[in-house]
Amino acid sequence: MTEPSEDPGEPAGPPPAAPPAGPTPRRGLTRRRLLKAGLIGVPAVAAISAGGAAWLWATADVDTAGRVRFVNRLAIPPLATGRRDGSGRRVFELRARAGNRRLRPGRPTPTWGFDDGHLGPTLRVDRGETVVVNVRNELAEATTVHWHGMHLPAVMDGGPHQPIRPGATWSPTWRLDQPAATLWYHPHPHGRTGQHVYRGMAGLFIVDDPAAGSPDLPGRYGVDDVPVIVQDKNFGDDNRFDESTPLIGGVGILGDTLLVNGTVAPYHDVTAERTRLRLLNASNARTYGFGLSDGRPFALIGTDGGLLPAPHLTDRVRLSPGERAEIVVTMRPDERVVLRSYPPDLGADFWTSRVTGGDDTMDVLELRAAGGLTPSPALPGTLAEAPGLGSAGGRVDRGFELSGFEINGRAMDMSRIDFGVGRDTTEIWEVTNLDVLPHNFHVHGTRFQVLSVNGAAPPPELGGWKDTIYTPRETPVRIAIRFGGHADPDSPYMFHCHLLFHEDLGMMGQFVVTEPGVLPGRPVMPHDAGHG
Ligand code: C2O
Ligand code: CU
Repeated sequence: MTEPSEDPGEPAGPPPAAPPAGPTPRRGLTRRRLLKAGLIGVPAVAAISAGGAAWLWATADVDTAGRVRFVNRLAIPPLATGRRDGSGRRVFELRARAGNRRLRPGRPTPTWGFDDGHLGPTLRVDRGETVVVNVRNELAEATTVHWHGMHLPAVMDGGPHQPIRPGATWSPTWRLDQPAATLWYHPHPHGRTGQHVYRGMAGLFIVDDPAAGSPDLPGRYGVDDVPVIVQDKNFGDDNRFDESTPLIGGVGILGDTLLVNGTVAPYHDVTAERTRLRLLNASNARTYGFGLSDGRPFALIGTDGGLLPAPHLTDRVRLSPGERAEIVVTMRPDERVVLRSYPPDLGADFWTSRVTGGDDTMDVLELRAAGGLTPSPALPGTLAEAPGLGSAGGRVDRGFELSGFEINGRAMDMSRIDFGVGRDTTEIWEVTNLDVLPHNFHVHGTRFQVLSVNGAAPPPELGGWKDTIYTPRETPVRIAIRFGGHADPDSPYMFHCHLLFHEDLGMMGQFVVTEPGVLPGRPVMPHDAGHG
């Protein structure tokens, strides 16, 4: 991606404090046990002096509202539409590699990414096409590429079972058959997903569905249909990304500086009356509460797995790590408005909210309207069919308890398949976060419909297709989930918390899709995928 190396706009005020150092661990306790022992959340206050607690409280939040000078034009990831091979397949090439970016005054920041070394191109494919992606790993260590939100056979999924060793090329192929949506891709190596994503490995994968009679929505890529990939970073010595996990907080890295499409302090020149923003939270741990700086409403038109049944007018959209939202912002000539993250409602107690980013306000992207704007058609009244998989009253087939960095009391084990589901069946799952900490829940290889949240009908923003959902504590979330046509008793799909620190600690499990009556098999343990 072409990267602005103009004046890297720093927040004009004093930068907010980096995550505070926590108490020194007692010997004999691993970090994991320390966390489990409760040095997070409310008990952390008791573990440190009152003065220390007050200091932590006062320094634990970030507020950059009104303090970012937007001096860099928003980078737009290059659009890749691939080439057609002899058998009509849509073929893409991706190279995983290291790079660097000039993000702040002084030294460039070392990054990882695809193709030019930070983030990656936006892949774009029509429903019905067969896709091939040749992923070459030019990094010095193994990685994987997972197609988040994609319905595809488990062996093509790019989870921890499909490592690509250095120098090798992995070439997954699948027939793309799902509604138009904003999906994404990122590495998923066992225990190292957080590190690879934090270094910058992430890109969008847009699915179009021409046969569905596309509703009249802003659709000029990079002009009035704009990718907005949001990641929060901390910078350390020499402008390197600071990869250290704060001990206090318990969710992993929360950065004090936002990058949008890899751009610090970005602005976008708006040239049409309506602009569609494809928001992706590609952050490790931070949940955002997106809104506009003057409080004006916008239309939420899509979520993870597709368009909503109808536009939903709102002034906030909460996105936890891995979630996407498509919004349409209407502007008048010559005005400016800032996309801002307001304190997201995490449903957590005061202390937990404070140390997990729930009190943070961060400026994201300035939208600058030109003096003359191209007219945009009014938003259609209906956008897509409602999911319609089930009703809240149905029997729950499976329950998932999120607690202590485990799911149902078990930590991730690549050799254990937790359960099998039948091909072409629909199940109702109930997911409950029993921790004080925030979590979310993502399922590979499919999409789901939210049936209820804490027993109540889902709000309009959860009325469409999802593949990742925020799970506030002690709030059962019921979903109806459909397992499609790719049966394979030996190749698992993942389900996990998408706060990457939690995922890497083992808050993940595996399931397989089988033909009716077939029992789950044994996972084929990773051999290095690809040919070198
Ligand atoms: Cu976005 Cu298992 O991943
Ligand atoms: Cu979690």
